[in-house]
Amino acid sequence: MNIDWDAKSYSEHFSFVPQYGRDLIELLDGKKLKILDLGCGGGNLTKEICDRGHEVTGIDLSQNQIEFAKKCYPEIKFFVSDALALDFDQEFDAVISNAVLHWIDERNQPLAAKNVLNCLKKGGQFVFEMGGAGNNALIHGELERQFAKRGLKYEMAFFFPSVGQYSSLLEGVGFKVVYALLFDRPTPLEGENGLKDWMDTFVKAPFYGLDKSISDDIKLCAQTALKDKLYRNGVWYADYVRLRMKAVKF
Ligand code: BEZ
Repeated sequence: MNIDWDAKSYSEHFSFVPQYGRDLIELLDGKKLKILDLGCGGGNLTKEICDRGHEVTGIDLSQNQIEFAKKCYPEIKFFVSDALALDFDQEFDAVISNAVLHWIDERNQPLAAKNVLNCLKKGGQFVFEMGGAGNNALIHGELERQFAKRGLKYEMAFFFPSVGQYSSLLEGVGFKVVYALLFDRPTPLEGENGLKDWMDTFVKAPFYGLDKSISDDIKLCAQTALKDKLYRNGVWYADYVRLRMKAVKF
């Protein structure tokens, strides 16, 4: 899935994405590692990794995000690359990836995992966090209802696996899974229309081909319907469920 991100707006309004990713760095064993940040976005997490003394390269599919990252952190290597077309050969001690893998179609997940494996030296570490089973279930469920009310079919375009599902996938390509956690993380969103704004940014594919007026109506009706569940003390929350894992190359 290729979204033409507005890198500056993303970093201003959704800064929680790289911030939450910091915990991932703690899962890495070793100092001065050579690390690939897969799906680095605007480079905030890449910079944190660099500041901890590692040698890091950031890659992302989005040209806008990479240009933004290069401007912000000229001392770090960044370039555009696709997880499905990586061609590193055992160059890295670790691959880290935050909030990226759920964008890859389920059928392409084994290829992505195999490519990560090929990037790593023997014993190399793959640490990542992605949306896990049940991620944003309230939001996608309500959008599905709003589409159905209008005679439309809602196709949820993300892959949110369980621990078992993703462990099998990783083991199938040659990883040993050493850590796995699935946990709820209700995530505060900015502004009175926080949920609608979140949908505008992150749920694009189901709305392709619909008029803006219909799309806006669906999202506003979904936001209203979810107020009881996702709005507390003046703040909107997205019902995030995270899958955090670490796997090692045999
Ligand atoms: C996430 O879980 O990080 C996520 C999933 C889908 C869209 C946006 C974010």
